Amino acid sequence: MRYLVTGGAGFIGSHLVDRLLEQSQQVLVLDDLSTGSTLNLLRHRERGELSFVQGSVSDRGLVRQLVGEVDFVFHLAAVVGVQLVMRQPRRALEVNLHGSEAVLDAAEHCAVPVLMTSSSEVYGLGPEVPFREDADLSPGRSDDPRGGYAFSKAMAECSALARAREGALDVTIVRLFNTVGTRQTGEYGMVLPRFLSQALRGDPLTIFGDGEQTRCFADVGEVLDCMLRLVAAKDSQGKIFNLGSDREVSIASLAETVLRLTGSESRLQYMPLREVLDRGTRDVLRRVPDLSRLLDCIARKPDKDLAAIVRGLLVPASSS
Ligand SMILES: NC(=O)c1ccc[n+]([C@@H]2O[C@H](COP(=O)([O-])OP(=O)(O)OC[C@H]3O[C@@H](n4cnc5c(N)ncnc54)[C@H](O)[C@@H]3O)[C@@H](O)[C@H]2O)c1
Repeated sequence: MRYLVTGGAGFIGSHLVDRLLEQSQQVLVLDDLSTGSTLNLLRHRERGELSFVQGSVSDRGLVRQLVGEVDFVFHLAAVVGVQLVMRQPRRALEVNLHGSEAVLDAAEHCAVPVLMTSSSEVYGLGPEVPFREDADLSPGRSDDPRGGYAFSKAMAECSALARAREGALDVTIVRLFNTVGTRQTGEYGMVLPRFLSQALRGDPLTIFGDGEQTRCFADVGEVLDCMLRLVAAKDSQGKIFNLGSDREVSIASLAETVLRLTGSESRLQYMPLREVLDRGTRDVLRRVPDLSRLLDCIARKPDKDLAAIVRGLLVPASSS
């Protein structure tokens, strides 16, 4: 099999490339290197099974050509991270919505199946916790870039599912919840790598709001196990799956865990939300997935405990 991985030089994409190459598959990566890096693929530079193309998923001609060369597409390319989305709201819409449309159009044209990554952000502040895939969504405000990110992901889902409903495309959607692991950077708003680098530098760990908001952190390796099982499952097409951990932890206790495991003497610094989010934007208080649909389909879910995940991130970079 030959696979196209869009965003394959990024955090999750590069771990996916590792997995596919371990399984002796052929992999083609399309990435514009806006947040990803070829360093994430360096270990494979001698391998003929990996090809890399620097370009954008918004380049319809290029996307059509590359999709025509493969048997399956993993579509991960996106503008990701609250801080990046706040800085580049137009590019976030352009890539996440129109770039996804370009990939879906090409896959439909070439009759190639797709797994597309969406985000738990689509649930927004809305539904009951834990979030179920069939809940009404509440992506947020259109004058808030974070809402723009969530709407763009939700619209890409609509586009994919409309094609599936008409029998035009085999597509599976995963709504990823907080995923963590090596190669993730804290530069664009991801909380765990930011806390780790602050702790290791001895800087204060900055907590936005009161720290009582909760998230669930899943290990990227376990997330990819589930993603690859979903691709292999017979009945995953045309459906959305929550994919993440359901072990709920507050941001304040995440910070305490990081301090304990790094032995850092950094202090916690609480910052008002209005300094980081648009004025009036509320943070999601609890973000927890309902994983019943995932369990029904593949009998597996990400389950590694947070301390084990953080310890794994503290081993030397050479083993990442
Ligand atoms: N990491 C998480 O916790 C999380 C949570 C929810 C959803 N997701 C989704 O998972 C996917 C991967 O995210 P990630 O965490 O690995 O982020 P990442 O920023 O590390 O990866 C995104 C990759 O896409 C590339 N890219 C951006 N714009 C592009 C374009 N126009 N054309 C081609 N490539 C482009 C970037 O260079 C980068 O390599 C994204 O779709 C994201 O929305 C991630």
